[in-house]
Amino acid sequence: MSDTGSKIALVTGGNKGIGFEIARGLARHGVIVVLGARNPVAGEAAAAALRDEGLEVHFQPLEVTDAGSIAAAAERLSSEWGRLDVLVNNAAVSLEKGVPPSLSDLGLMRQTYETNVFGVVAVTQAMLPLLRASKAGRIVNMSTGLASLSLSSGREAPFSFSRLLAYNTSKTAVNAVTVQFANELLDTPIKVNAANPGLCATDLSNSNGRPPTEGAAVAIGLALLDEDGPTGGLYGDSGKVPW
Ligand SMILES: NC(=O)c1ccc[n+]([C@@H]2O[C@H](COP(=O)([O-])OP(=O)(O)OC[C@H]3O[C@@H](n4cnc5c(N)ncnc54)[C@H](OP(=O)(O)O)[C@@H]3O)[C@@H](O)[C@H]2O)c1
Repeated sequence: MSDTGSKIALVTGGNKGIGFEIARGLARHGVIVVLGARNPVAGEAAAAALRDEGLEVHFQPLEVTDAGSIAAAAERLSSEWGRLDVLVNNAAVSLEKGVPPSLSDLGLMRQTYETNVFGVVAVTQAMLPLLRASKAGRIVNMSTGLASLSLSSGREAPFSFSRLLAYNTSKTAVNAVTVQFANELLDTPIKVNAANPGLCATDLSNSNGRPPTEGAAVAIGLALLDEDGPTGGLYGDSGKVPW
């Protein structure tokens, strides 16, 4: 086990998009980043690109719907570093093509929840013993404004008609999961928050939105919260986002 003063972070789905920028941003802060990706070629290429920038980034195969893959990642973190300081649950899918809820495909919904909800819970449960071994564990769950019930209730709400039943409700569940874990860990140093990156230009958004570096900044801020920071909330650029 290497004895290092640097923080250790695991970013799921780190090979592209916002996750890649979170990995880069954390590594630029001196954090040793373990970049998780389900595709080994893409994951190793992403980690190598960041190492070429002089950053300490290690690739770890990680499919968040596969218990064996999650266990292998936890085992590697345990044997190499003995702890985890930051977990960013970033990996997610958006599989629907803008249909109203009445026509939403239940199969796609189940698939979406496997990654976006059960994947987050499974990775968090597996990493908790390592986060408990940290002096200041931080968990950041990637959410979205689209998950907010307040921002999507009623005709005038900004996200009333976004037509993504599976994705939006999966992220509402992520918000609830965030609160539940934060509550369980209230008497520990571990803080658990959700991040709303805003619309960012990635594959998931069909390249609509702002640069992913800007969305990543919200998550990086939550990952590096000091001990006075909040827990159990959803945060965006301008602070707390209503549930
Ligand atoms: N982009 C936006 O406007 C926006 C807005 C709000 C919230 N978010 C959230 O921000 C996070 C990152 O999104 P993004 O826009 O960067 O999306 P993205 O570019 O599509 O990247 C998603 C990442 O998740 C990985 N992934 C998907 N399923 C996985 C699985 N089962 N196991 C492991 N990895 C898996 C993908 O791997 P592959 O490359 O192998 O597919 C990819 O690395 C997501 O949680 C998303 O919901 C995004």
